[in-house]
Amino acid sequence: MRPFTRTLTPELTNEELAALLGIIRKRRCQGKHLEIGTAAGGTLCSMMKVFEDHERPPFVVVDPMTYFQNQLNTVKKNLQDNGVSAEEVDFRIMKSDLAFMEADQKRESFDFIFIDGAHKIHYVTDDLRWTRLLNDGGIVCLHDYTSVRGVTLAVDRFLRKNPHYVRVECVNTLLILRKTKEGLKPEISFIDRVWASFFAPLLRLEVFTKKVLKRKIQ
Ligand SMILES: C[S@@+](CC[C@H](N)C(=O)[O-])C[C@H]1O[C@@H](n2cnc3c(N)ncnc32)[C@H](O)[C@@H]1O
Repeated sequence: MRPFTRTLTPELTNEELAALLGIIRKRRCQGKHLEIGTAAGGTLCSMMKVFEDHERPPFVVVDPMTYFQNQLNTVKKNLQDNGVSAEEVDFRIMKSDLAFMEADQKRESFDFIFIDGAHKIHYVTDDLRWTRLLNDGGIVCLHDYTSVRGVTLAVDRFLRKNPHYVRVECVNTLLILRKTKEGLKPEISFIDRVWASFFAPLLRLEVFTKKVLKRKIQ
């Protein structure tokens, strides 16, 4: 069992968490805050606790809640133990691609997005579509940048094609970006998604080959 399911702590390092909370605290946005992939809700609790009860903006969590047994109840208990009401969180218990389609149809908007769901290249590329719903000046953070190849490749392509996103900072594997203005076209195109689907099996093959070679060497 993963240790955080017992400790209910964030899956981020202390430095990453400090940077994440720092940018939330500094900007104090009042628009919706979104976390894609919450695990035991450790980071969610910390993010919500940046605000006093009376000034907290709406928080949305997208997660299919199948990461470990009883995940949703664990997250709710974690919130309760941290003095935050689970009622305050808009839980969308589904995969992020479906949640995105619904949010896009409703023309929702967000001030802050933390992407930390599935880390395969095509999922990350898909999750980057949420930036379309990010307000100007809004912040998007991504975890496991540089440590997971799928995340790195997807984000680097995103940054090359979307120069209106500027890097605020990168702490360990947490990348923080700011949207400077609305782009003329969607951040992620059909071609980007085809590119990611093409790369996905190649990355799987790479991981598999590395594992086999490692076993042979041992
Ligand atoms: C790395 S953990 C998140 C860690 C958490 N953000 C933290 O800081 O403690 C990944 C989470 O992504 C969720 N997940 C996996 N696939 C997903 C998908 N397609 N859409 C949304 N969430 C997904 C898993 O259920 C899991 O809770």
